[in-house]
Amino acid sequence: MIGIIGAMEEEVAALKEAMDIHETVEQASMVFCKGVLCGKEVVIVRSGIGKVNAGICAQILVDRFKAEMLINTGIAGSLDAKIDIGDMVISTDALHHDMDATEFGYPVGQVPRMEVMSFPADEELVKKAVQASEKANPDIHTFTGRVASGDQFIASREVKDKIVENFHPLCVEMEGAGIAHAAHLNKVSYVIIRAISDKADNSASVDYPTFERQAIAHSVRLVKELLTLI
Ligand code: ADE
Repeated sequence: MIGIIGAMEEEVAALKEAMDIHETVEQASMVFCKGVLCGKEVVIVRSGIGKVNAGICAQILVDRFKAEMLINTGIAGSLDAKIDIGDMVISTDALHHDMDATEFGYPVGQVPRMEVMSFPADEELVKKAVQASEKANPDIHTFTGRVASGDQFIASREVKDKIVENFHPLCVEMEGAGIAHAAHLNKVSYVIIRAISDKADNSASVDYPTFERQAIAHSVRLVKELLTLI
């Protein structure tokens, strides 16, 4: 079973429309839609925004629906000048950019007493997601690299620069590391697929709704294509 998580209803609505829904189940104020999409058994769910919602959602997918693979789809802010609005980022790993126990000698981003700093995505899944991206959105650039997550919408040059300096990620969002962290603890595979909706700086709000719509359409096309390759 494959769990597909989007933070916002807009991000999962198009996928839910395309699937054959067999059952819907509510838990932790989240509605889990179980069924078949592109020939694969999936559960699609809107987690809500932020890492806590994302982590809870991922755990339910593993415990109750026996998910062996988690796909997180949605939008993100670009942290690299070469990655433009509408481009795709596929995670090689994810981390919590807002975890800070430096007072105790841990590097910024490291969860104290955990052995890893970042959570690596499944290599096979990453390869397939890149393939799917190139097929689904041939005119759009696909990048693979680190995703940084935190419980903050980044819309300031200063905060953005600090995240880049600390972690060198390609994009920033608010759920991926929560899902990656849960996948790591449960020993299931995961990948984060994000379409860029903004530049995570002062320009973030200008045309955000338009870019958001386009970015969501790109992610949805990619996820459907990926399911045919898994
Ligand atoms: N999701 C989309 N854009 C974002 C940003 N700038 N910061 C955090 N999450 C985002």
